[in-house]
Amino acid sequence: SEEWSLRPQRFEQYIGQEKAKGNLSVFIQAAKLRSETLDHVLLYGPPGLGKTTLAQIIANEMGVGIKTTAGPAIERPGDLAAILSTLEPGDVLFIDEIHRLSRTIEEILYPAMEDYCLDIVYGQGEMARSVRIDLPPFTLVGATTRAGMLSAPLRDRFGVTLKLEYYEAHELAAIVSRTAQLFRLSISPEASGAIAKRSRGTPRIANRLLRRVRDFAQVAGTKEIDPVLASDALDRLHVDALGLDEVDHRLLRAMVERFGGGPVGLETLAATIGEDAQTIEDVYEPYLLQQGFLQRTPRGRMITQFAKSHFGYEEEEE
Ligand code: ADE
Repeated sequence: SEEWSLRPQRFEQYIGQEKAKGNLSVFIQAAKLRSETLDHVLLYGPPGLGKTTLAQIIANEMGVGIKTTAGPAIERPGDLAAILSTLEPGDVLFIDEIHRLSRTIEEILYPAMEDYCLDIVYGQGEMARSVRIDLPPFTLVGATTRAGMLSAPLRDRFGVTLKLEYYEAHELAAIVSRTAQLFRLSISPEASGAIAKRSRGTPRIANRLLRRVRDFAQVAGTKEIDPVLASDALDRLHVDALGLDEVDHRLLRAMVERFGGGPVGLETLAATIGEDAQTIEDVYEPYLLQQGFLQRTPRGRMITQFAKSHFGYEEEEE
Protein backbone atom coordinates (compact mmCIF):
# COMPACT_ATOMS: atom_id res chain seq x y z
CA SER A 1 0.00 0.00 0.00
CA GLU A 2 0.98 3.64 -0.22
CA GLU A 3 1.29 3.74 3.56
CA TRP A 4 3.91 1.05 3.46
CA SER A 5 5.98 2.60 0.69
CA LEU A 6 6.22 5.85 2.65
CA ARG A 7 7.89 4.16 5.59
CA PRO A 8 11.65 4.43 5.81
CA GLN A 9 13.24 1.02 5.24
CA ARG A 10 16.72 1.72 6.65
CA PHE A 11 18.20 3.66 9.58
CA GLU A 12 19.73 6.01 7.05
CA GLN A 13 16.26 7.14 5.94
CA TYR A 14 14.76 7.25 9.42
CA ILE A 15 14.59 10.77 10.85
CA GLY A 16 14.71 11.43 14.62
CA GLN A 17 14.79 9.13 17.69
CA GLU A 18 18.56 9.62 17.61
CA LYS A 19 19.18 7.91 20.95
CA ALA A 20 17.15 4.80 20.19
CA LYS A 21 18.53 4.64 16.66
CA GLY A 22 22.14 5.07 17.81
CA ASN A 23 21.94 2.33 20.43
CA LEU A 24 19.99 -0.03 18.24
CA SER A 25 22.43 0.25 15.36
CA VAL A 26 25.32 -0.66 17.70
CA PHE A 27 23.46 -3.75 18.97
CA ILE A 28 22.65 -4.75 15.39
CA GLN A 29 26.24 -4.32 14.17
CA ALA A 30 27.55 -6.29 17.16
CA ALA A 31 25.08 -9.14 16.61
CA LYS A 32 26.04 -9.27 12.92
CA LEU A 33 29.78 -9.26 13.73
CA ARG A 34 29.21 -12.25 16.00
CA SER A 35 26.85 -13.90 13.53
CA GLU A 36 24.25 -14.03 16.29
CA THR A 37 20.54 -13.37 16.45
CA LEU A 38 19.71 -9.94 17.83
CA ASP A 39 18.51 -9.99 21.43
CA HIS A 40 14.79 -9.34 22.05
CA VAL A 41 13.80 -5.67 21.80
CA LEU A 42 10.99 -3.84 23.60
CA LEU A 43 9.86 -0.53 22.07
CA TYR A 44 7.59 1.69 24.12
CA GLY A 45 6.07 5.12 23.85
CA PRO A 46 2.95 6.93 22.60
CA PRO A 47 1.24 5.80 19.37
CA GLY A 48 2.43 7.02 15.99
CA LEU A 49 6.12 7.53 16.84
CA GLY A 50 7.46 4.76 14.61
CA LYS A 51 7.51 1.50 16.58
CA THR A 52 6.28 -0.62 13.66
CA THR A 53 8.66 1.16 11.30
CA LEU A 54 11.60 0.46 13.62
CA ALA A 55 10.67 -3.23 13.83
CA GLN A 56 10.75 -3.39 10.02
CA ILE A 57 14.07 -1.54 9.91
CA ILE A 58 15.56 -3.94 12.49
CA ALA A 59 14.65 -6.85 10.21
CA ASN A 60 16.00 -5.08 7.12
CA GLU A 61 19.27 -4.12 8.81
CA MET A 62 19.73 -7.64 10.18
CA GLY A 63 18.91 -9.03 6.74
CA VAL A 64 16.13 -11.27 8.05
CA GLY A 65 12.40 -11.70 7.54
CA ILE A 66 9.65 -10.32 9.75
CA LYS A 67 6.35 -11.80 10.92
CA THR A 68 3.87 -9.38 12.41
CA THR A 69 1.03 -9.88 14.85
CA ALA A 70 -0.60 -8.06 17.77
CA GLY A 71 -1.39 -8.91 21.38
CA PRO A 72 -5.19 -9.08 20.95
CA ALA A 73 -4.83 -11.39 17.91
CA ILE A 74 -3.18 -14.12 19.97
CA GLU A 75 -6.08 -15.57 21.93
CA ARG A 76 -5.07 -19.21 22.29
CA PRO A 77 -1.77 -21.05 22.64
CA GLY A 78 -2.39 -22.44 19.15
CA ASP A 79 -2.44 -18.91 17.70
CA LEU A 80 1.04 -18.31 19.08
CA ALA A 81 2.28 -21.73 17.98
CA ALA A 82 0.97 -21.07 14.47
CA ILE A 83 2.95 -17.87 14.02
CA LEU A 84 6.08 -19.18 15.77
CA SER A 85 6.10 -22.20 13.48
CA THR A 86 6.47 -19.94 10.43
CA LEU A 87 9.74 -18.37 11.66
CA GLU A 88 12.97 -18.90 9.76
CA PRO A 89 16.27 -18.77 11.68
CA GLY A 90 17.06 -15.21 12.79
CA ASP A 91 13.66 -13.78 11.85
CA VAL A 92 11.99 -10.94 13.69
CA LEU A 93 8.65 -11.66 15.32
CA PHE A 94 6.91 -8.33 15.83
CA ILE A 95 4.14 -8.28 18.45
CA ASP A 96 2.35 -4.94 18.55
CA GLU A 97 0.33 -4.04 21.67
CA ILE A 98 2.25 -6.70 23.52
CA HIS A 99 0.77 -5.56 26.86
CA ARG A 100 -2.53 -7.06 25.73
CA LEU A 101 -1.30 -10.67 25.77
CA SER A 102 -3.07 -12.85 28.30
CA ARG A 103 -1.19 -14.34 31.23
CA THR A 104 -1.41 -17.82 29.68
CA ILE A 105 0.14 -16.67 26.41
CA GLU A 106 2.85 -14.73 28.25
CA GLU A 107 3.83 -17.91 30.06
CA ILE A 108 4.20 -19.83 26.82
CA LEU A 109 6.27 -16.99 25.46
CA TYR A 110 8.90 -17.13 28.25
CA PRO A 111 10.55 -20.42 27.20
CA ALA A 112 10.15 -19.41 23.55
CA MET A 113 12.17 -16.25 24.25
CA GLU A 114 14.72 -17.89 26.53
CA ASP A 115 15.33 -21.33 25.08
CA TYR A 116 13.64 -21.13 21.67
CA CYS A 117 11.19 -23.84 22.51
CA LEU A 118 7.47 -24.11 22.87
CA ASP A 119 5.70 -26.28 25.46
CA ILE A 120 2.17 -26.89 24.32
CA VAL A 121 -0.16 -28.57 26.81
CA TYR A 122 -3.25 -30.25 25.50
CA GLY A 123 -5.99 -32.25 27.17
CA GLN A 124 -7.03 -31.69 30.78
CA GLY A 125 -6.47 -33.19 34.22
CA GLU A 126 -5.03 -36.71 34.19
CA MET A 127 -5.18 -36.77 30.42
CA ALA A 128 -3.08 -33.62 30.01
CA ARG A 129 -0.07 -34.11 27.76
CA SER A 130 2.51 -31.72 26.54
CA VAL A 131 4.63 -31.54 23.46
CA ARG A 132 7.85 -29.60 23.17
CA ILE A 133 8.50 -27.93 19.84
CA ASP A 134 11.96 -26.59 19.02
CA LEU A 135 12.03 -23.19 17.38
CA PRO A 136 14.73 -21.50 15.36
CA PRO A 137 16.50 -18.63 17.12
CA PHE A 138 14.50 -15.44 16.57
CA THR A 139 14.25 -11.84 17.76
CA LEU A 140 11.05 -10.82 19.46
CA VAL A 141 10.33 -7.14 18.93
CA GLY A 142 7.52 -6.07 21.23
CA ALA A 143 5.77 -2.71 21.03
CA THR A 144 3.60 -1.11 23.66
CA THR A 145 2.22 2.29 24.54
CA ARG A 146 2.61 1.43 28.21
CA ALA A 147 5.65 -0.44 29.47
CA GLY A 148 4.16 -0.33 32.98
CA MET A 149 1.40 -2.70 31.90
CA LEU A 150 3.78 -5.51 30.98
CA SER A 151 4.30 -8.11 33.68
CA ALA A 152 7.75 -7.90 35.25
CA PRO A 153 8.84 -11.38 34.07
CA LEU A 154 7.99 -10.50 30.46
CA ARG A 155 9.72 -7.11 30.68
CA ASP A 156 12.83 -8.79 32.13
CA ARG A 157 13.17 -11.07 29.14
CA PHE A 158 13.89 -8.23 26.75
CA GLY A 159 17.63 -7.60 26.46
CA VAL A 160 17.04 -4.18 24.89
CA THR A 161 14.38 -1.68 25.95
CA LEU A 162 13.98 1.55 24.00
CA LYS A 163 11.71 4.45 24.82
CA LEU A 164 10.51 6.49 21.86
CA GLU A 165 10.12 10.22 22.45
CA TYR A 166 7.93 12.84 20.84
CA TYR A 167 9.73 14.35 17.82
CA GLU A 168 11.20 17.84 17.67
CA ALA A 169 9.51 20.29 15.28
CA HIS A 170 12.56 20.35 12.99
CA GLU A 171 12.52 16.54 12.76
CA LEU A 172 8.81 16.53 11.89
CA ALA A 173 9.42 19.22 9.27
CA ALA A 174 12.10 17.00 7.70
CA ILE A 175 9.67 14.05 7.72
CA VAL A 176 6.96 16.17 6.07
CA SER A 177 9.44 17.28 3.38
CA ARG A 178 10.52 13.69 2.81
CA THR A 179 6.94 12.47 2.47
CA ALA A 180 6.04 15.41 0.19
CA GLN A 181 8.90 14.43 -2.08
CA LEU A 182 7.54 10.86 -2.23
CA PHE A 183 4.17 12.40 -3.19
CA ARG A 184 5.98 14.40 -5.91
CA LEU A 185 4.86 17.65 -4.37
CA SER A 186 6.96 20.70 -3.80
CA ILE A 187 6.62 22.19 -0.36
CA SER A 188 8.30 25.24 1.12
CA PRO A 189 10.24 24.91 4.40
CA GLU A 190 7.74 27.30 6.00
CA ALA A 191 4.83 25.11 4.94
CA SER A 192 6.56 21.95 6.26
CA GLY A 193 7.21 23.84 9.47
CA ALA A 194 3.56 24.87 9.78
CA ILE A 195 2.42 21.25 9.43
CA ALA A 196 5.16 20.06 11.81
CA LYS A 197 4.15 22.50 14.53
CA ARG A 198 0.60 21.18 14.53
CA SER A 199 1.47 17.49 14.58
CA ARG A 200 1.80 17.01 18.36
CA GLY A 201 5.28 15.55 18.06
CA THR A 202 3.98 12.61 16.03
CA PRO A 203 5.05 11.61 12.47
CA ARG A 204 1.82 9.68 11.87
CA ILE A 205 -0.14 12.87 12.49
CA ALA A 206 2.29 14.97 10.40
CA ASN A 207 1.87 12.62 7.43
CA ARG A 208 -1.90 12.50 7.90
CA LEU A 209 -2.11 16.31 7.89
CA LEU A 210 0.13 16.42 4.82
CA ARG A 211 -2.30 14.07 3.03
CA ARG A 212 -5.18 16.42 3.76
CA VAL A 213 -3.15 19.45 2.69
CA ARG A 214 -2.34 17.54 -0.50
CA ASP A 215 -6.11 17.14 -1.08
CA PHE A 216 -6.60 20.90 -0.86
CA ALA A 217 -3.65 21.45 -3.22
CA GLN A 218 -4.99 18.88 -5.67
CA VAL A 219 -8.41 20.50 -5.84
CA ALA A 220 -6.78 23.94 -6.14
CA GLY A 221 -4.88 22.51 -9.12
CA THR A 222 -1.37 23.03 -7.77
CA LYS A 223 1.59 20.83 -6.86
CA GLU A 224 3.21 23.54 -4.83
CA ILE A 225 2.40 23.86 -1.16
CA ASP A 226 3.14 27.27 0.27
CA PRO A 227 2.52 28.43 3.86
CA VAL A 228 -0.78 30.12 2.95
CA LEU A 229 -2.23 26.98 1.38
CA ALA A 230 -0.94 24.85 4.29
CA SER A 231 -2.32 27.16 6.99
CA ASP A 232 -5.71 27.50 5.28
CA ALA A 233 -5.99 23.74 5.00
CA LEU A 234 -4.97 23.18 8.63
CA ASP A 235 -7.49 25.76 9.86
CA ARG A 236 -10.21 23.99 7.93
CA LEU A 237 -9.19 20.73 9.61
CA HIS A 238 -9.81 22.32 13.05
CA VAL A 239 -6.29 21.66 14.27
CA ASP A 240 -5.13 24.54 16.44
CA ALA A 241 -1.70 26.17 16.52
CA LEU A 242 -0.48 23.59 19.06
CA GLY A 243 -1.88 20.60 17.23
CA LEU A 244 -4.75 20.11 19.66
CA ASP A 245 -7.89 18.77 18.07
CA GLU A 246 -11.54 18.78 19.07
CA VAL A 247 -11.20 15.90 21.52
CA ASP A 248 -8.36 17.65 23.35
CA HIS A 249 -10.41 20.81 23.56
CA ARG A 250 -13.51 18.99 24.81
CA LEU A 251 -11.41 17.24 27.43
CA LEU A 252 -9.80 20.41 28.74
CA ARG A 253 -13.08 22.34 28.59
CA ALA A 254 -14.92 19.60 30.52
CA MET A 255 -12.26 19.65 33.22
CA VAL A 256 -12.66 23.37 33.74
CA GLU A 257 -16.40 23.73 33.23
CA ARG A 258 -17.63 20.53 34.89
CA PHE A 259 -14.96 19.72 37.47
CA GLY A 260 -13.56 23.09 38.52
CA GLY A 261 -10.21 22.21 36.90
CA GLY A 262 -9.98 18.86 38.73
CA PRO A 263 -8.90 16.64 40.24
CA VAL A 264 -11.20 14.31 38.34
CA GLY A 265 -10.89 10.58 37.77
CA LEU A 266 -10.09 9.28 34.29
CA GLU A 267 -13.27 7.18 34.01
CA THR A 268 -15.50 10.08 35.06
CA LEU A 269 -13.82 12.40 32.61
CA ALA A 270 -14.08 9.83 29.80
CA ALA A 271 -17.79 9.28 30.45
CA THR A 272 -18.42 13.02 30.51
CA ILE A 273 -16.96 13.65 27.06
CA GLY A 274 -18.10 10.32 25.59
CA GLU A 275 -14.65 8.93 24.81
CA ASP A 276 -13.03 5.65 25.76
CA ALA A 277 -10.90 5.92 28.93
CA GLN A 278 -8.13 3.78 27.45
CA THR A 279 -7.98 5.97 24.34
CA ILE A 280 -7.73 9.09 26.46
CA GLU A 281 -4.96 7.55 28.52
CA ASP A 282 -2.94 6.21 25.57
CA VAL A 283 -3.60 8.75 22.84
CA TYR A 284 -4.68 12.12 24.22
CA GLU A 285 -3.22 12.40 27.68
CA PRO A 286 0.49 11.74 27.02
CA TYR A 287 0.84 14.78 24.77
CA LEU A 288 -1.23 17.02 27.06
CA LEU A 289 0.97 15.93 29.99
CA GLN A 290 4.16 16.46 27.99
CA GLN A 291 3.04 19.94 26.95
CA GLY A 292 2.22 20.87 30.54
CA PHE A 293 -1.55 21.24 30.09
CA LEU A 294 -2.44 18.40 32.43
CA GLN A 295 -1.09 16.96 35.63
CA ARG A 296 -1.69 13.58 37.16
CA THR A 297 -2.20 13.60 40.90
CA PRO A 298 -3.09 10.77 43.28
CA ARG A 299 -6.64 12.13 43.35
CA GLY A 300 -7.06 12.35 39.58
CA ARG A 301 -6.29 14.57 36.60
CA MET A 302 -5.91 18.32 37.05
CA ILE A 303 -5.66 21.11 34.54
CA THR A 304 -2.58 23.34 34.96
CA GLN A 305 -2.53 27.09 35.44
CA PHE A 306 -0.63 27.25 32.14
CA ALA A 307 -3.52 25.57 30.30
CA LYS A 308 -6.05 27.85 31.98
CA SER A 309 -4.19 30.93 30.80
CA HIS A 310 -3.57 29.49 27.37
CA PHE A 311 -7.24 28.73 26.77
CA GLY A 312 -8.46 31.88 28.43
CA TYR A 313 -9.96 30.25 31.51
CA GLU A 314 -8.95 32.61 34.22
CA GLU A 315 -10.30 32.48 37.72
CA GLU A 316 -13.00 35.04 38.17
CA GLU A 317 -11.80 37.00 41.15
CA GLU A 318 -13.61 40.04 42.57
N1 ADE B 1 7.84 8.68 8.15
C1 ADE B 1 7.24 8.44 9.32
N2 ADE B 1 8.13 8.45 10.32
C2 ADE B 1 9.32 8.72 9.78
C3 ADE B 1 10.63 8.87 10.31
N3 ADE B 1 10.88 8.76 11.63
N4 ADE B 1 11.62 9.13 9.45
C4 ADE B 1 11.36 9.26 8.14
N5 ADE B 1 10.16 9.14 7.59
C5 ADE B 1 9.14 8.87 8.40
